[in-house]
Amino acid sequence: MSTQFETQLMAARVDVEAALGAYLGPVALGGRVPARLRAAMQHAVLGGGKRFRPFLVLESARLFGASQRAAMAVAAALECIHCYSLAHDDLPAMDNDVLRRGQPTVWAAFDEWTAILAGDSLLTLAFEIIAAPSADIPAEVLGPLTVALARAAGADGMVGGQVYDLAADRLREPKSASLEHVRQLQAMKTGALIRFACVAGPMLARSSVDDVARMQRYGDALGFAFQISDDLLDVTGDVAAVGKAVAKDAVQGKATLVSLHGVEGARRVLQETQASAVDALSIYGERARTLIDAVEFMGSRQS
Ligand code: IPE
Ligand code: IPE
Ligand code: MG
Ligand code: MG
Ligand code: MG
Repeated sequence: MSTQFETQLMAARVDVEAALGAYLGPVALGGRVPARLRAAMQHAVLGGGKRFRPFLVLESARLFGASQRAAMAVAAALECIHCYSLAHDDLPAMDNDVLRRGQPTVWAAFDEWTAILAGDSLLTLAFEIIAAPSADIPAEVLGPLTVALARAAGADGMVGGQVYDLAADRLREPKSASLEHVRQLQAMKTGALIRFACVAGPMLARSSVDDVARMQRYGDALGFAFQISDDLLDVTGDVAAVGKAVAKDAVQGKATLVSLHGVEGARRVLQETQASAVDALSIYGERARTLIDAVEFMGSRQS
């Protein structure tokens, strides 16, 4: 039995996948795109995934009354970046995984060079999607939104977080990770894209700085909760349900809340973090119900 939230997430997924399918079709991509590259990009993006970040973009846009058409373009762009990050994260040089979303990872289905180049293409495609006139993003919003997305994806965001993650794994740096270090690592590698998803709505709607700040606070807490629950799934999850390898983080020496505080300790921090995410939305009352339910989902998700 799905919860009401899971039904809503699934409904958003259908719309998001239709949009992604169109962006990755041969006509939209361009007639000269090598078939192998297109197939690898499609493999990375289509066929699986919760579409949680796109869902957040659409819901944050709904809360502030922004255009759903513009929000869908931003949602698709963000998902392209997320999928590129996964294709690269799974490479032998990084986490060396062969299973993702219940299917072979991009490099396992194709090869390493194809997975790297498919990831590169998805990153650039994301910016093409939001800058295209058909995205219908108000001219005065496009600049700040693009900067926010680039910042979240890049060295000060997801990519920087991946470097901290792999430095712990490969270089044993720092020698013993503090809570502060793990928080920063997770805020960057996972939090940055989730925070962007949450502020995209108020940005598109040209809402007040207070609304943007509240959604930032919500996004930061939600992003942290999301990675804690991912780290818990690595320990407690079932490979068939999760759709990717489990029980790997400890072996690889990842710096996580679980490695720091154990499963029970991580669960406690998850609950505290969930409470502060909900608190950030209190001013919106029941209008933010779906976003509040998204916080609950962090404690119950099985994939
Ligand atoms: C996995 O993200 C990578 C993390 C940042 C923890 P998701 O759990 O959102 O993966 P998909 O998109 O649903 O497959
Ligand atoms: C990946 O974190 C976060 C990214 C930026 C891709 P993980 O390495 O924990 O994600 P999974 O567990 O492979 O999905
Ligand atoms: Mg990783
Ligand atoms: Mg990984
Ligand atoms: Mg993980």
